[in-house]
Amino acid sequence: MILLRADYNVPIEYDATGDERILNDFRIRASLPTIRYLLEQGARKIVIISHLGRPNSVETLADLDELEKLPNGRRKFSLRPIFNRLYEVLAEEFGENVDDFKQHFLMNFHTTPIFPHTRYGTPIAEADDDYKIEMLENLRFSKAEKQNSVELAETLLQVTGADLFVQDGFGVVHRAHTSTDEITRKMPSVAGFLLEKEVSTIAHVFENPEKPFVAVMGGAKISDKLPMIEKFIERADSVIIGGAMANTFLAFHGAEIGQSKIERGQEEIIADIEAKAKRKFGANFREQFLLPADFGVAKEVAKTAERREMAISELQLDDYILDVGENFSNYTSQVIENAKTIVWNGTVGMAEFANFANGSAQVAAAISRATKNGAISIVGGGDTSAFAMNWAWENPDLAEFSLISTGGGAALELMSGNILPRLEALPDK
Ligand code: 3PG
Repeated sequence: MILLRADYNVPIEYDATGDERILNDFRIRASLPTIRYLLEQGARKIVIISHLGRPNSVETLADLDELEKLPNGRRKFSLRPIFNRLYEVLAEEFGENVDDFKQHFLMNFHTTPIFPHTRYGTPIAEADDDYKIEMLENLRFSKAEKQNSVELAETLLQVTGADLFVQDGFGVVHRAHTSTDEITRKMPSVAGFLLEKEVSTIAHVFENPEKPFVAVMGGAKISDKLPMIEKFIERADSVIIGGAMANTFLAFHGAEIGQSKIERGQEEIIADIEAKAKRKFGANFREQFLLPADFGVAKEVAKTAERREMAISELQLDDYILDVGENFSNYTSQVIENAKTIVWNGTVGMAEFANFANGSAQVAAAISRATKNGAISIVGGGDTSAFAMNWAWENPDLAEFSLISTGGGAALELMSGNILPRLEALPDK
């Protein structure tokens, strides 16, 4: 009987009635190889545990009513919709219609969250039923999950009766929580395929990258990604900067960037980053530490805003930079295409607005061309992976990435050269 930790923390939206919509089921699909393997190896039953979001949490079963409810009376952040989606993607995986699949492949969802010291009756492993997969409710409804609690780990062991723990939630291995850390001390623990693939691909790239190695960085905050930027400067042959992060660099150099978003108070950090880039790349460091000089610009930050292309010198005081410009995209696409190793973290514009997704789409396309030519490519970070995944769905013939990581913070940690302690905790990782 297997206890499987997945990271089913998927983006989910609730409408006014409380009905939910899963915006991207990538992490659910990414867990299928491990589930399939365990079933094929004859696992009698798999109990899946995960968290979803950052819900409020309570101490005991008696406090359950304090958990947030949706207008339809259901619990907000319940894993039930994820369970339903898992049923659908498993049916698809086994090539069956979901109703037919449900007739012979039985799955069960446990609505009662698990709290330390609570007795839950017969352990799942000993129950006389034919369920192949069972899922427990969101672990984070219990305060003890984030406290890395010995008691909660013991209760999980009692509830499930599992004899093997499989950690496959790559996105969560940077957290020291009960279901990632303490649980590994309660039973033999191994890594699943997703975790194995993500860690070995990312580690390989940083230990032994084939050259030229190009890093593409975007997103808003320099401060969040500082160790990663430093790592990229140390390892990569070119670093391409886009997104609001680039605005902060440009503002530091006194450029007029209108109303564009920047991160204040980063002067010292930027001076330090650029000094490191100069040391690494030499006097012409701007050719390898690339900042945009033309942009997709608008008069407002809105989905429907009209895009204008302009050089930095043409920007007006009431303009907002919302994307990198076409010249920059064309130039950096060539740099990316000639690379043998590419890592991408952070969209280079407001990719959630169609008019300003062009720069990020061009990055995705150039990476795909390079990958088709034999390069290794990694896309990491929550928004960037979601963007690449959607772009790949829309452009199935063009898309090719070696790895679209399911990890947000965990990928960032690994790409920054940090070890993941919860991974080290797996004896047979
Ligand atoms: C993630 O989405 O990065 C992981 O699921 C971890 O979630 P957390 O940041 O809420 O711990």
